[in-house]
Amino acid sequence: MRNIILCGAPGCGKGTQSEFIVEKYGLTHLSTGDIMRAEVKSGSELGKLIFSYTGVGHLVPDDVTIRLLEQHLDSLPKDTKGVIFDGFPRTLAQAKELESLMDRRPDDSTAVLIDINVPEDEIIRRLIERGKTSGRADDNLETIKERLEVYHDQTRPVDAYYDSLGKYARINGLGTIPEIFSRICEVLDKLY
Ligand code: AP5
Ligand code: MG
Repeated sequence: MRNIILCGAPGCGKGTQSEFIVEKYGLTHLSTGDIMRAEVKSGSELGKLIFSYTGVGHLVPDDVTIRLLEQHLDSLPKDTKGVIFDGFPRTLAQAKELESLMDRRPDDSTAVLIDINVPEDEIIRRLIERGKTSGRADDNLETIKERLEVYHDQTRPVDAYYDSLGKYARINGLGTIPEIFSRICEVLDKLY
């Protein structure tokens, strides 16, 4: 599988753009945020642990996150063309773990990290707007600010790491959804 990573601040459009990428390139969407929300909804003990972090905008510990991701990767059909990692890796430790996981799987690799760049005022506007109907516990101003801080402190270093591997592309995340998708296509058309 030739995989890609979609990265960027909360609300930058990772989920929205993934749907278009799935349709055009036939990749499989794997969002750790979606996986975690499903686990919370199930009411399991693991879900309760996860919610103690997601509910306040903090990252779920790396070991829990990596285990969940590996389980989902292992459950994919053998003929999967590639995966869109949406919202993973989010720490340097997760990034290094992902790369060593790829090394251990001879047919698997990460091709590029696409960083969707959106200014903070627009992020806050989008997430407050979505919070009116999303039902997401983390779409309120206080938690959005916390998520942004966590993004700057813990997730930004992942960009530099992928840049050092020669697998980093930054795109402008402002504009209409089709405009942003065409910028992503410019990157992906070279790969698929
Ligand atoms: P996660 O679910 O990944 O949330 P997030 O990163 O905060 O991002 P969002 O899903 O809110 O936004 P998005 O970038 O997908 O944007 P979207 O397309 O929805 O993570 C949630 C939590 O889970 C984390 O805080 C953490 O606790 C935990 N977690 C997840 N992964 C983890 C990990 N790897 N390690 C540890 N913990 C982890 O768009 C947002 C809104 O904007 C939508 O309403 C959309 O319609 C709108 N929009 C999109 N594009 C545009 C546009 N071009 N113009 C105007 N509006 C737009
Ligand atoms: Mg999302």
